[in-house]
Amino acid sequence: MGYDFSTLQPHSQAKLDILKTYLESWIWKVTQHKSSIHKGCCLMIDGFAGKGEHNDDKVGSPLIMIETAVRFFNSAFNTNLSAKRVRILVIENDATTFQDLCSSIDNKYGTSLCSGEGRQTIPDYPGIEVLIRKGRFADELTKFLEAEKNLEPSICFADPSGYLQVPLGLARSYLRQPSSEFFVNFIYEEFNRFISVPKANTKSALNMPEADHEIFATSLKGLPAIERRERIALLFADRFHAHGAQYVHSFDIRKSGKLKMILFFGTNSLEGLKLMKKVMWNQGEIGHYVFDDRKNPQQMQFEFVAEIDEAQHILSLSNLILAEFQGQSSVSINTIEHFVLVKTIFPVLREKLILQALNRLSEERRITVEDKHRYKNGRIIWSKADISFV
Ligand SMILES: C[S@@+](CC[C@H](N)C(=O)[O-])C[C@H]1O[C@@H](n2cnc3c(N)ncnc32)[C@H](O)[C@@H]1O
Repeated sequence: MGYDFSTLQPHSQAKLDILKTYLESWIWKVTQHKSSIHKGCCLMIDGFAGKGEHNDDKVGSPLIMIETAVRFFNSAFNTNLSAKRVRILVIENDATTFQDLCSSIDNKYGTSLCSGEGRQTIPDYPGIEVLIRKGRFADELTKFLEAEKNLEPSICFADPSGYLQVPLGLARSYLRQPSSEFFVNFIYEEFNRFISVPKANTKSALNMPEADHEIFATSLKGLPAIERRERIALLFADRFHAHGAQYVHSFDIRKSGKLKMILFFGTNSLEGLKLMKKVMWNQGEIGHYVFDDRKNPQQMQFEFVAEIDEAQHILSLSNLILAEFQGQSSVSINTIEHFVLVKTIFPVLREKLILQALNRLSEERRITVEDKHRYKNGRIIWSKADISFV
């Protein structure tokens, strides 16, 4: 049975909202580097494109990518920033879905992909190239990478319907490209269900040796759900690291109370990590990187809970900062931000959490700064301060 495109459900919408918000800033970050030979250029890859639009008219990932490119060209035109070429590689394996996808892009953008031409520019936007491929993600991406040299900065979104369709081995060859990022939807529920079934071949999904996989599967027996999730997510992140992603960050998607999928983002760029942590932090249940369709943000209680959560986050973060830097002097805010970004679950939101945590530590006299780094009213100029941890 094919994938159900009747209505875009809230948990799938959450996934696409993260993609959309991330791309919106990513496209500017990767295209405007002054010294880059790829200035003004980037590539978005949608490995499991689907049919473009759901039956309720909600747009899917390939259209989100094209829309992002169009907005980028429009804004660049109005601001004189550099926009030269954005390529969008779209892959879909199912024949009927592929036809629907071609029609949906043709109808919306005036292309003629249905005629069978696999490469088209969007009318009025000669810099936006859509490359469309009917085939399996693994085969098509491999072919594409083999034919390309000096790839422009890119992101690959892999949104399969089963855990076996994204072999992590592929991430390794893709992440070897400079400035490449991999955003994969790991179908946790199914993987978790099948991990102890030898025929289910869960080891191939993680590209791991049989013996290690067996030991791991056995270690899960009898564990409560939360612990299973922790171990499986940690294993996936480890495998992702081993396949070339220096930084990995994840986000849980729950449906009707059950963990359905985990979005894993892998990058070798600190900027990419910083942006994705911020996007995911704002998207889900703040501080937990979770979307749960049973929680209704309109509930009166929600703001109250969010406030308590925020106080808790500030406390946790200040403790982490203190534990890391205790006894050190002349620590800059940049050093603290780097630590928070790479070593903690917290995002770098300068005006929010980190400064709130530092203000708290200052009030508790756990840190000191020189008077010259204070405003007249006593407030600390954090961007200039040499911070000493007592
Ligand atoms: C979860 S849906 C993608 C939804 C899409 N990202 C969206 O936003 O609407 C997965 C899609 O991948 C396709 N598919 C399944 N196996 C595939 C494979 N090995 N390679 C490429 N596409 C595949 C399915 O036909 C289906 O359309």
